[in-house]
This record gives sequence, C-alpha cells and structure tokens, in this order.
Amino acid sequence: MRIVDDRAGLRSARAELHDVAVVMTMGALHEGHATLLRQARAEAKSVLLTIFVNPLQFGPNEDFDRYPRTMEADLELARAEGVDLVFAPTREVMYPNGEPAVRVEPGPLGEVLEGASRPGFFHGVLTVVNKLFQLTRPDRAYFGEKDYQQLTLIRAMARDFDLPIDVRGVPTVREADGLALSSRNRYLAPAERQAALVLSRALRATADAGSIEAGLAEFAAVPEVKLDYLVLADPMLGPAPEHGPARALTAAWVGGTRLIDNLGVQL
Ligand code: PAF
Repeated sequence: MRIVDDRAGLRSARAELHDVAVVMTMGALHEGHATLLRQARAEAKSVLLTIFVNPLQFGPNEDFDRYPRTMEADLELARAEGVDLVFAPTREVMYPNGEPAVRVEPGPLGEVLEGASRPGFFHGVLTVVNKLFQLTRPDRAYFGEKDYQQLTLIRAMARDFDLPIDVRGVPTVREADGLALSSRNRYLAPAERQAALVLSRALRATADAGSIEAGLAEFAAVPEVKLDYLVLADPMLGPAPEHGPARALTAAWVGGTRLIDNLGVQL
C-alpha cells in the first residue's frame, strides 16, 4: 500500500493504477468504511482511499477541531482491506490558495434537510468531492447510504457535470441493536448511546406504519434527544409518493452530538 500526501505523489502513483475505485473519507474509519472498501476491492482492480477532514463542510460552531483523527488506525484498516493507494493531503495541499472562492452549487436539494440545518454544508462537500474526483480520476466511487442526501447530491453532480464516474451507494452498516455506524458515535457517553437508538427505532416505526406519526411518537418518548427532522420522501428526495418506494430520513441531537440516519421504505 502506498501513502501519498501531495499532488505530485498522487499523480505518479495514480498513473500506475488501472480500473480505479475510490472511497472518500474523513478518516476515523469504522466497519461502515471497511464495507465500502470491501465492495470497491471486489469490483475494481485498484482501490484508492482518500482521507481528508474537509474544513469547508464544517460550520463555524461545528466539530471540525474535535473531529476524531486516527491516522495510524485508519492506515491499518486500509492495509487489512487491501487498499492500493491512500491519498491523505493536508489542508494546504487541498486548498493551496486558501478557501476556494468558486464552489459547487448544490441547487435546491442542497438547501433542505441537512442543508437547512447546516448552511453551506453541501457546497463544502460537493466542492471537495469534485476536487478529489479531478485529482484521483476514478472509474467508480463508493459512498455510504448512511449519508443519503450526500449520496443523492454526488450522483446529481456526476450527472450534471458529465463526470465519467460510476457513483455507487452502499447500504448502511448497523450495530446489532440498530445504531447506524458513524465516526461521531465515538462522542456518545454510554447513556447517550442508549438514547441514540431512538433514531433507528423511529425510522423502523415510520417504515412499518407508512407515516411519520409513529416515528414522532418514538422521539416523544425520549425527550432528552432533540429531534431536528423526521421526513418521508421519494428516493430522489422529492415529495413522498402515495405508494411505492420511499425514504425515511431523520436527524437529531443526542447531547452535543448531531446524528443522522435513514431507511428505505415501501409505501
Ligand atoms: O462522507 C464523508 O465522509 C465526507 O462528506 C466526504 C464525502 C469524504 C467529503 O468530505
């Protein structure tokens, strides 16, 4: 496994790879990331992992400074999953001229749900993903369904910008009790971790009942968790259909930690 942290190193290492699948991460890797890497490994000749905590997608009062940085463990996991090349740039390598003035505009889908609660978030995500696409030039890219709105917007960007990249979604990995894996789960104290189960419970209740009322009742029973949103939408995140495939999505604060989750639903 090669590890590079600058553009020249990436360019020369990338030139030796063919049929490249990329997995983009902010590090603090867990079994969810391992699943992305395994799928990439199974479907492509070469697997390229990027690790970069992107300052552009954090608001001024968000957790950029305390976001977990676990490079040694991340590299160990990458090695175990058969990654060929790791690109782990510094902020100066990614943004040599400071914060970019030109950013990807996500459009209306970037303003709702996560975009409504985290202004500028998807501008930051799509800008760095676009840059990493240009730098790594993958044939395929794997993103978790855990960040469903992000996945939907990255697909839309690839389509709208004619990027020759096959964007693939990979199902969310959960703990046995339903908690969706997230790097931010590390912030949760034991009691908070227990309370956080309400997110997956509310999604399941919403899926079973076919309406958010049942999910809202689950949240109401755990008042220490502050609900941000619980919605039903169509799979492209437009208005929910009367019948057919849909998606339930939620976000909530558990103590100082904001968690998101979502589930496929048949209405
Ligand atoms: O999902 C993430 O970890 C990040 O949003 C991504 C896609 C790596 C962009 O920084």
